[in-house]
Amino acid sequence: MKTSWETTNLLLKPATQGVIKDIVEIEKKLKSEGFFGGDSEDKHLTYLDNPDVAYWIITTKRNQLIGYIILQGLRKTGRHGSIELKRMALTETNQGFGGEVMDIIKQIAFDHFEAHRLWLDVYDHNERALHVYKREGFAVEGTLRECIRENDEFISLVILSMLEPEYRASLKA
Ligand SMILES: CC(C)(COP(=O)(O)OP(=O)(O)OC[C@H]1O[C@@H](n2cnc3c(N)ncnc32)[C@H](O)[C@@H]1OP(=O)(O)O)[C@@H](O)C(=O)NCCC(=O)NCCS
Repeated sequence: MKTSWETTNLLLKPATQGVIKDIVEIEKKLKSEGFFGGDSEDKHLTYLDNPDVAYWIITTKRNQLIGYIILQGLRKTGRHGSIELKRMALTETNQGFGGEVMDIIKQIAFDHFEAHRLWLDVYDHNERALHVYKREGFAVEGTLRECIRENDEFISLVILSMLEPEYRASLKA
């Protein structure tokens, strides 16, 4: 499978052990800003060796690390056809980069892994991410009400998905 991807402004490349410390720092900051929960450095390292997971870093064309994506559920695509966008994070926001990365994620999921369904969850207070996923054609499936507890606060998760025929139709639109 193709391992690196290019958009108008960005490069996506497989994550390596050498970048995990930097990613964990990015994740800690975004976690403290309330965008999502994070994983430990050890957990990130396990993703690298997990055949069920695909992990890419996102850089500018000048090689500045500005984010990462993690896809999960690759081994199950044969059976259920369902891939989870487990994490998507950018440090440079509101410049259209999210849209560029989503285009590649959809290609990876539907064209390369031949998924039937691409899904994700998002904190219900993360209005920007919700806006971007809906803009990119994801449909809201529902809300897991107050299913996570963080710092003694309950958080609800919105589940969104896109199906392969919806992806194909969006390419023709
Ligand atoms: C969510 C994320 C991936 C989106 O990427 P991005 O590069 O910022 O997205 P874009 O620049 O393509 O689009 C941003 C859109 O959000 C809109 N927006 C910005 N702030 C907003 C807010 N508070 N509420 C609603 N929409 C908002 C912008 O107007 C823009 O929409 P438009 O282009 O339709 O006008 C990125 O912001 C990010 O990584 N955020 C921090 C981590 C995170 O939330 N990850 C997702 C967890 S599920």
